[in-house]
Order: sequence, then structure tokens, then C-alpha cells
Amino acid sequence: MRARDFIGTQDVTREDLRTVLDLAQDFAKGRLGGPTDGALSGKTVCLAFFEASTRTAVSFELAARRAGAHVISISEKGSAIQKGESLVDTVVTLDALEADAIVIRHPAAGAARLAARHTGAALVNAGDGRGQHPTQALLDVYALSEALGGLDELDGRRVAVVGDVLHSRVARSVIPTFQAAGMEVALVAPRTLLPLEAHAWNLPVISSVDDALDWGADVLYALRLQKERMTEGSPRVPSVAEYARYYGVARRHLATGTLLMHPGPVNRGVEVSGDVVFDHSSLIPTQVASGVAVRGAVLALATGAVGMEIAA
Ligand code: NCD
Repeated sequence: MRARDFIGTQDVTREDLRTVLDLAQDFAKGRLGGPTDGALSGKTVCLAFFEASTRTAVSFELAARRAGAHVISISEKGSAIQKGESLVDTVVTLDALEADAIVIRHPAAGAARLAARHTGAALVNAGDGRGQHPTQALLDVYALSEALGGLDELDGRRVAVVGDVLHSRVARSVIPTFQAAGMEVALVAPRTLLPLEAHAWNLPVISSVDDALDWGADVLYALRLQKERMTEGSPRVPSVAEYARYYGVARRHLATGTLLMHPGPVNRGVEVSGDVVFDHSSLIPTQVASGVAVRGAVLALATGAVGMEIAA
């Protein structure tokens, strides 16, 4: 069966979300089997990470192993990429080794789509530059739905996406995904951290976390300030302390039951004050834990181990 790709979330639907969330729940409850008899038994999953990662890489690997897959990991260091082998040649090589799924993280936006054109394996995008990070968005909806009591509970809720939208593949993936779950989305960012295309997204733009609460945010989704992508010689914010004053989430913002989310890694004291990262209103630990179940579900769908048409 031709595998299916997970490149981006632009066309994700509510039904897709239900499929992934149900399967993730099955995975979490052990209904997809274990390392010896799991849904991915006999499948080969290749993890190709050409950019730093902790939680994404680890949760893909754990998920694949727990469901019985053979796992191959390659990174820039120690592979032929270091010798100048191109992305396409690397993917063709993995294809020749009969990978069923290739999970790729790469600093260039568009890398996952390019790679998908050169392999019969399922291509799962684990983050491509400023492009997309679909499994992050799926695990975020899973974590929120577990916290609120089901996918239907997200309908009509308000989520404010706060911070460095400009450089964020996570923002580009979570916005359509939250909308597919029926949520209203607003952006909370200085103009210097909004991409030009944000205009076309037609979302309210709010200028502080305090104002986001006035707008009625049920969820504050904070993004990391991506200093490593601020390459044009411009810092984009006048000072980190000033940024934190308007766009940092503090304890007082969570006093009335508003939930905090962040994809990690967190710059403590910048996007989120250090004392609330693991507060009871923070879903950050739940997000990390959700990664394994959701990535297990995605790999099962991607490799055709569990059949279902979805458009993510
Ligand atoms: C994000 C990423 O790498 O895109 N982190 C993650 O996958 N958990 C967000 C970030 O680096 O800010």
C-alpha cells in the first residue's frame, strides 16, 4: 500500500483530527500492541534529523520502538550529509534501503515536500525551517482535548498564539489545526514578529497578553523567541526584557483558569515566567507526554499499518 505523507496541516479537517486522536488514544492505552507484536512490526522507520531536537526526536523514536518498528537514526553529524551529500540523495539512499517511513527535520522550509517527491516511503515532516511542524500541532490538539474532556470541548474556545510568529513553523501548523477543531485564533505579537502573509490569515492581532485575556483567551499558546533564525542582522525586538513585559506569560495571566501551552524548548523568563512553566494551569508537560501517542498514531497511518484517509 502506498504510504501517505504528513507534510503540513493547511488542509486538515475535523474528521482527520478525530482519526488521529482516536488512534493516539488507542496507542496510549496499548491497543496497538507492544514492541514484539505492535502495529509497526516489520516496518522500518528512518529518523533523519538535520537540525537540533530533543522532544520531537525522542518521542518519534519511542513511539516507533514501542509499536515494534525497526528504527534507523541519522543526523548531519556522522552521516554522509557532512560530506556534502544532498537532501535528495540522502532520501533516495534511505528509499533504496526500503524505509517504510522517513521522518525528517531540516532547516529549510520546503525540505519535507521536496524529499517526498523522491521516495516511495511515507514522508513525515518533523519541522522544516519556518515551514510546518504538523505532528506538533496534532499533539497540541490531543493534549488540549485530553485536558478539556474531548475534541468537541475545543469547539468555540479562544486560543491566543503569542510571540515569534514570524519564524515559527509551529504557528503555521497550529493555527489551521486549532481552527479545524472549531477554535477561534488570535495573534499576539509585535508587528516585527509577524510575517507579511499574516495579513491574509485574517486573524485579530492583539498587542499584549493582558489584551489577549480581555479578548477572552481560554488558552495562551506561547512561542519560543527564535533568536537563531534572526539572521538578517536585526534583533526584531528592542530588548528581551521589554518583549517579556508585553508578550511574556506570567502567573497573573493564569489566575482565572486560562491554560498555558508552549511547544518547548522554553526560554524561561522570556515567553513564560519561570515559576509557571510547570504550574497546574500549564499543559507543557502534557504536550511532551502526548508526543509519543500522537507520533505513534501518525506513524501507523503513514506506513499504512492502520488504514485511513486523512489530509494532514
Ligand atoms: C519547536 C520546533 O523545533 O519547531 N520545538 C519542538 O519541536 N518541540 C519549537 C521551537 O523550537 O521553538
